[in-house]
Amino acid sequence: MPMPKRLLLLCLVFTALADCPAFVSRLVAEPTAAELPPPRTEYYGRRIARTMHYTGAPWLVRESRNREEEPQKLLDALAVKPGQLICDMGCGNGFYAVKLAQRVGPKGTIFAVDIQPEMLDQLEVRAKRYGVRNIRPTLGTVVDPKLPAGKLDLVLMVDVYHEFSHPETMLRAIRKSLKADGRLVFVEFREEDPDVPIKPLHKMSKRQIIKEATANGFKLVSQFDELPWQHVMTFVPSEKRPPEPASNGE
Ligand SMILES: C[S@@+](CC[C@H](N)C(=O)[O-])C[C@H]1O[C@@H](n2cnc3c(N)ncnc32)[C@H](O)[C@@H]1O
Repeated sequence: MPMPKRLLLLCLVFTALADCPAFVSRLVAEPTAAELPPPRTEYYGRRIARTMHYTGAPWLVRESRNREEEPQKLLDALAVKPGQLICDMGCGNGFYAVKLAQRVGPKGTIFAVDIQPEMLDQLEVRAKRYGVRNIRPTLGTVVDPKLPAGKLDLVLMVDVYHEFSHPETMLRAIRKSLKADGRLVFVEFREEDPDVPIKPLHKMSKRQIIKEATANGFKLVSQFDELPWQHVMTFVPSEKRPPEPASNGE
């Protein structure tokens, strides 16, 4: 095929695929390892946990999770409204994304962000199984969740924040994605409670969550202490702008 025709064909294929949100969010070029700022191993005295590998995903949708973590209580406490734009940050295989999608209804959208494409593949299977069509699977990077600016009503992070290798950069990006009255919710296993059967590295104390969120331009507005294992802490952007990341990207 002569060159101009081949080019034209390529353009047509890309234009057609550009209508598909899942394709668009996965098309964006990822930074190479050399371009990424080095990951942190510690932040404000806390050791950062390694990313949960996608082969562990069945644990996230285990049958006992509803009883152990009481997600319906969390969802009720979030008071999600139909039509809202919500991010399930670090969505894994979509345990929360599907439930959120059902709550916001067909006029709302769930940006389901994860850094592992295999998690997003499983999420898509799950969304199909539940007949949910308002989830936008979004492949982020460790420094960029690829969210639209100033649009989100809520960013929910369930058992995710303690894994961020670049917490400052991620919090900065999340802050940018929120509407003026948008909320950021941390859900983390309670470090203060030895009866919560989770490894210490995957738990956080209230004190630590507040320390890290306030250092990055958020203020605490409410806490929900009724879940069996987890803290639920809601923040909004504070007047104080977060500091510029340091030279190592943090
Ligand atoms: C323990 S799983 C929790 C999954 C889900 N929130 C749930 O509760 O079922 C943590 C997830 O966060 C993702 N993750 C880690 N760092 C991330 C980042 N910087 N941006 C987006 N996702 C991230 C991991 O790939 C993993 O799927």
